[in-house]
Amino acid sequence: MILQHSTWSEIEAYLGRSRGVMIPIGSTEQHGPNGPIGTDAICAEAVARSAAADADILVGPTLAVTTAQFNLRFPGTISLRSTTLMAVVTDYVRSLAAQGFARFYFLNGHGANIAPLLAAFHDLHGEHAATAPHGLRCRLRSWWEYPDANALRQSLYGEWEGIHATPSEIAIAHHAVPATQRPAPTARPEKLTAASLREMGGDRHFDADHHRARFPDGRIGSDPALVGPTDGARLLAAAAAGARADYAAFLAEA
Ligand code: NI
Repeated sequence: MILQHSTWSEIEAYLGRSRGVMIPIGSTEQHGPNGPIGTDAICAEAVARSAAADADILVGPTLAVTTAQFNLRFPGTISLRSTTLMAVVTDYVRSLAAQGFARFYFLNGHGANIAPLLAAFHDLHGEHAATAPHGLRCRLRSWWEYPDANALRQSLYGEWEGIHATPSEIAIAHHAVPATQRPAPTARPEKLTAASLREMGGDRHFDADHHRARFPDGRIGSDPALVGPTDGARLLAAAAAGARADYAAFLAEA
């Protein structure tokens, strides 16, 4: 059930059955030589909608413009400041919480969203504790965290998964929106050590000039040429199954 495709009375009826909502959150930033700029938002939305397809799960509007200042030297990238993103998330949650929603499950496709969202959740949990103890819960999960999806991307791409413009996210985006398909680059990217990839996890990068000079074609240790024709469908199915199960567990918590 997609919020923007529903009427207000359908949402009111849904609230009689569930107080949960799943919210895709991605980014609008370069994704290397053959990944669409909307990759993160396309992936998060595809996983959420697939998870909700045969279940009574409401999917809220995708947050597609988030924090990505380190990619601003690549044309097309749009970035919110972290404090702006926190404010957007807070207002999104407050709007629906005032109508009776109480479980907010953010399905994430972009590492740099993690820190600001967790900070916003602390404030939201704190402000609601005063008026409705245990009445509001927020959770963030990135689609690649679900065990089956994570195992599959590791088995398909191993050390060439990298951490940005990854073969797994490009496989899902190209599968979900075929019009975004482009030929993969023929050259492998610079090989990065496991330690340096770990250090940059969650998009711990510096400024945009540094970032473009350091990663000239936009990839970070990833080789999208490894994507096979059925990878996108398999990764999407694995992530959607993981999301559906984790969302159900989230709603079932006391
Ligand atoms: Ni991405």
